[in-house]
Amino acid sequence: MDAHDIRSSFLQFQRDRGHAQITRASLTPKHDPSTLFTGSGMQALLPYLLGQEHPDGHRLVDSQPCLRAQDIENVGDNRHTTFFEMLGNWSLGDYFKEQQIRWFFEFLVDVVGLDPARISVTCFIGDAEHGIPRDDEAASIWQRVFAEKGIEAGIASIGSQADGDARGVREGERIFFYDSTENWWSRGGDLFTTPLGDPCGPDSEVFYDFGPDHHDPAFGLAHPASDSGKFMEIGNQVFMQYRRELDGSFTPLEQRNVDFGGGLERIAAASLGTPDVYRISLLAPIVETLERLSGTSYADDPHSLRIIADHLRGAVFLASDGVRPSNKEQGYVMRRLLRRAIRTAYGIGLRDSFFGAVVDQIAGLYEDAFPELADRRDEILEVLLREEASFRRTLQAGLKALRGFEGRTLTGADVFLLSDTHGFPRELSVEEAERLGIAVDADWELEYDSALQAQRERSRGSSRLQVAEPS
Ligand code: GLY
Repeated sequence: MDAHDIRSSFLQFQRDRGHAQITRASLTPKHDPSTLFTGSGMQALLPYLLGQEHPDGHRLVDSQPCLRAQDIENVGDNRHTTFFEMLGNWSLGDYFKEQQIRWFFEFLVDVVGLDPARISVTCFIGDAEHGIPRDDEAASIWQRVFAEKGIEAGIASIGSQADGDARGVREGERIFFYDSTENWWSRGGDLFTTPLGDPCGPDSEVFYDFGPDHHDPAFGLAHPASDSGKFMEIGNQVFMQYRRELDGSFTPLEQRNVDFGGGLERIAAASLGTPDVYRISLLAPIVETLERLSGTSYADDPHSLRIIADHLRGAVFLASDGVRPSNKEQGYVMRRLLRRAIRTAYGIGLRDSFFGAVVDQIAGLYEDAFPELADRRDEILEVLLREEASFRRTLQAGLKALRGFEGRTLTGADVFLLSDTHGFPRELSVEEAERLGIAVDADWELEYDSALQAQRERSRGSSRLQVAEPS
């Protein structure tokens, strides 16, 4: 199944089980000043998880575009994206653990066709201090559903990620208990960072095992919650049954909810048998277009092509949802995505405008699920082209200034000056200097960092979101 089929099958699967399909929320939350972007499907459903009656009933499903700007620096490896689609289903005080676990497992194994022997799961180990029990109920449901597929699923208590990195997985283990840093979910993250007044609860995460070839030993021994690449999280079932009170304690909610979020791109990668999400049907065509336009092959420079593909996809959705590049908040992130994409494209020889082809392609890829992209195609393209033109002027001014350094050694202070006065990205200064045969001081980075630090100290207290150079 490709990503398109997985999305439509998931929506159908849940509609067949009584879920009403709801319209996706904007990427910029309308009634939630605590966050710049929608980063999970549940954000728009907060009042209903706390007990308000939802007009569409107690069972809901959608596929929600999400943006996690905090991942921007991680984009370039085979699994990080800033923009992604989260498949979601919710029970608002209706079914609970048994039904949720059974249905998701059935969807993965019987509908998508994943090998159950490659699936591992995690459950909450409990928290005595806050009176929250270990989730043996979820673990025994998992044992039963695996047994129905002929798999005996051994249980292991791991605790923290660090413990898992040292311990690894032992023969027969498939169900793992972790602490609240791994198996607790709220908008704020783990148990201790749950916002006061928010719904929250223990969760049970599902991982796909890509096999030992994908394990990076630099992360310690492989186990589901490690970052070593062997296991990839593909879905998270939150048993949202508590509210964090103003005194920090947790009390049971009147209704026990299920909040499920599954990464469409990651489930599609598992279905394809590759941990590289950029190979799936929603991203590979963008990468192929970029390969064709730049003459750079994915095999030679996956890092650059992933950054451009991810950032432009995010920017197209942001533009469709009304965000415009600017120097603050959502607009700042959008500007950063666009400038990183342009600057990366520049680095692989894509020096003429290429947004038109890519915007059309992205709109085409989402024609079925998010037709608003095609409807707003002209407006989206205009926004992107305007930013592209302005950043190209910056690049040109910077290049001209850089030529003034011919015959000299470019220092960190020079690189800082180029970035500060012309907005010329630091890596680009160094790369272009090398291309023009200008020597670059070996300690340029140290000197650059101290010049930047000195400037930060001078301007401390000024606006929190100034546009720095796109890195
Ligand atoms: N709301 C569940 C998740 O984002 O993992």
